Amino acid sequence: MSCFMDQLHSVGGKSKILNALLWCIFGFGVVKATTLLLRATALILDLFVLPSVNYSKYGAGKGKYCVVTGASDGIGKEFATQMARRKFNLILISRTLSKLEALQKELQGKYGIDVKILSIDVSHDVPENYVAVKELCQGLPITVLINNVGLSHNCPVPFLETEEQELRNIITINNTATLLFTQIITPTIIETAASSKCRGLVLTMGSFGGLLPTPLLATYSGSKAFLQSWSNALAGELKEANVDVELILSYLVTSAMSKVRRTSVMIPNPRNFVSSALSSVGRRCGAQERYATVTPYWSHALQHWFIEETVGVYSRIANAMNLKMHKSIRARYLRKKLREEKKQ
Ligand SMILES: NC(=O)c1ccc[n+]([C@@H]2O[C@H](COP(=O)([O-])OP(=O)(O)OC[C@H]3O[C@@H](n4cnc5c(N)ncnc54)[C@H](OP(=O)(O)O)[C@@H]3O)[C@@H](O)[C@H]2O)c1
Repeated sequence: MSCFMDQLHSVGGKSKILNALLWCIFGFGVVKATTLLLRATALILDLFVLPSVNYSKYGAGKGKYCVVTGASDGIGKEFATQMARRKFNLILISRTLSKLEALQKELQGKYGIDVKILSIDVSHDVPENYVAVKELCQGLPITVLINNVGLSHNCPVPFLETEEQELRNIITINNTATLLFTQIITPTIIETAASSKCRGLVLTMGSFGGLLPTPLLATYSGSKAFLQSWSNALAGELKEANVDVELILSYLVTSAMSKVRRTSVMIPNPRNFVSSALSSVGRRCGAQERYATVTPYWSHALQHWFIEETVGVYSRIANAMNLKMHKSIRARYLRKKLREEKKQ
């Protein structure tokens, strides 16, 4: 009789454990599903429903200045143009003087704003460059800095075969120059924001190359991943000073750097990319899991969101797919180079 009772207790105990386990799995599933639903809703709202951000909070139309680096071409030129349209005066910093002069003339004529230009080569890590930046910016009411200047590899290349000069240029332009520009200009942004009772803004161009560790673009990938952590840390530091700091993530955009000329669903031109970026500052779009980061262009945003919600950006699968894609780009690049060499 007592043996029978023991068995009954043991079955009852097991079924209690099983029940508790099933409730845990159910609870976990509910939490996961709710999080996914909330993130999906936020993604849709950010991308397709919420109105464009109003730049009057950053002093638009009130004589304030916006600094754009790498402003003479591609995405930077478009940032300059679209900030001019929002009635910011501009300080444009880039390498080629003739391109800067042409853009200065065009924007001053079209939008009646003041445009100052500075031609420096930031691949040379020399103090004179930054003394010139300081002198140009002195006394100007700057509220926005757009850290856009950047360099990638000439083509996908194994890290061990990367030329030393290319490696040094990528780190100096993408990282050292960005840090120094920000250190020089941000104190003025803080002062201007405080005295004008508006907010300041520091935007930095990141990349999917930094979002996903990218084989055959290892140095570029590392330099952009550095900007992700640095920018997010700075966002925390500058919050109390009323300065918004945001990292902008992008997959390919047609430009001299990407060497892609034709637009597609996944590859916008700089105009459409920058329009989505400036409209979405302060929102997450595809970067729902990140602080102070935005993936603004709709197809890039859906891609980012899907990767994060499935395999994850640091997974073996994502790394292997990225390697395959860049191996194929390298093979095509080398075949084209060989054809051109044969022609000569
Ligand atoms: N295009 C893409 O697919 C893509 C994707 C993700 C992220 N991004 C990021 O977006 C940013 C802009 O890229 P983009 O495609 O617009 O590049 P881009 O068309 O090559 O333009 C780069 C700009 O930076 C300037 N610049 C380059 N090297 C410089 C140097 N040593 N000193 C001073 N200025 C220099 C260039 O001046 P010059 O006019 O003299 O050449 C140009 O104005 C970069 O940070 C890039 O990493 C681009």
